[in-house]
Amino acid sequence: EMAEKAGFPHFMLKEIYEQPRAIRDAIHGNADAIRTVAEEIARHDKIFIVAMGTSYHAGLVGRYLFQRLAKKVPIVEDASEFRYEFEDLIDEKALVIAITQSGETADTLAAMKLAKKRGAKVLAIVNVVGSMATRIADLTLYTHAGPEIGVAATKTYTTQLTVLTMLAIELARVLGTASEEYLNELEEGLKAVPDLVEAVLQHDEGLKELAEGLRDRKDFFYIGRGISVPTALEGALKLKEISYIHAEGLSAGELKHGPLALLEDGVPVVAIAPSGKTFDKMIGNIEESRARGAFIITLGDSEELRRVSDAFIEMPPVDELLSPIVYVVPLQLIAYHLAVLRGNDPDKPRNLAKSVTVE
Ligand code: G6P
Repeated sequence: EMAEKAGFPHFMLKEIYEQPRAIRDAIHGNADAIRTVAEEIARHDKIFIVAMGTSYHAGLVGRYLFQRLAKKVPIVEDASEFRYEFEDLIDEKALVIAITQSGETADTLAAMKLAKKRGAKVLAIVNVVGSMATRIADLTLYTHAGPEIGVAATKTYTTQLTVLTMLAIELARVLGTASEEYLNELEEGLKAVPDLVEAVLQHDEGLKELAEGLRDRKDFFYIGRGISVPTALEGALKLKEISYIHAEGLSAGELKHGPLALLEDGVPVVAIAPSGKTFDKMIGNIEESRARGAFIITLGDSEELRRVSDAFIEMPPVDELLSPIVYVVPLQLIAYHLAVLRGNDPDKPRNLAKSVTVE
């Protein structure tokens, strides 16, 4: 087992470090197929994205990418709800995109089968080759992340985001909804993402030190705006899964509507704050939390964040639409270090399974 871990103490850490390679493989592995799939998507007005867990968070990022670039707003629903809420709304005009690492999640498979039965086209974004999801789907795109052993998804999430980004760019090309110049720029930006992730991995030691100071905290809040809201949800999920610390992810604007009542001295608030159209609003939300004594951890590329932060995780500049792939990496590392510091096995969290094959 030690050999399989390539010198890393846990599979999860190995898989976090594999992300630059995995993202590169996802880009190269899908370059040829993406056009045909985008053309198929373009033929449909009703688009649904179904998934569970971390794959569901990828679906939420997918919604922002599709709406910003292709001006199409997919409905993203967790697969266990989709089956019961949308049955009547699915017909041959619908396209259902299922995102699943394992290709074996019971709720996701059931949603796909329902979609097929109602005549919809089904596209699967899957990691495990030949899994059940690939057999049900009309079309499959693979994430090419390689086997993921850690229960908490890491490299399969960033590769799902990579595939969704490629799809949204190509869909925008087919539909003519964004300038070719910007789409080319984004495509080049995506190719540079593995290097940015590599740079972010250099923060590992600092993140470990940060985690040491936070090991006994009971609640964490992760806040984001726009395309960073799913990153906040995913950061909180990672922490819950393996460190067993209570965490909430939410849009920063929602803070005032309840969660602010829970903030007191030293409660960590992790703000996902890439530069972009809501950056100034985010500074305001951070200041609100700070005024209640929260311990502010920020991720961003603006020096302005230093002034409002107890801990500032400096990120490389990146287009906001590509930021979810880069910004989730420090959150994975924070969760990993907290799990280990608290004596948990991050690869095998209690009560959880890698693949949930019962409904
Ligand atoms: C389980 C795993 C998660 C995963 C979810 C969906 O809960 O522990 O890491 O995100 O299932 O799995 P899937 O294979 O469908 O992506």
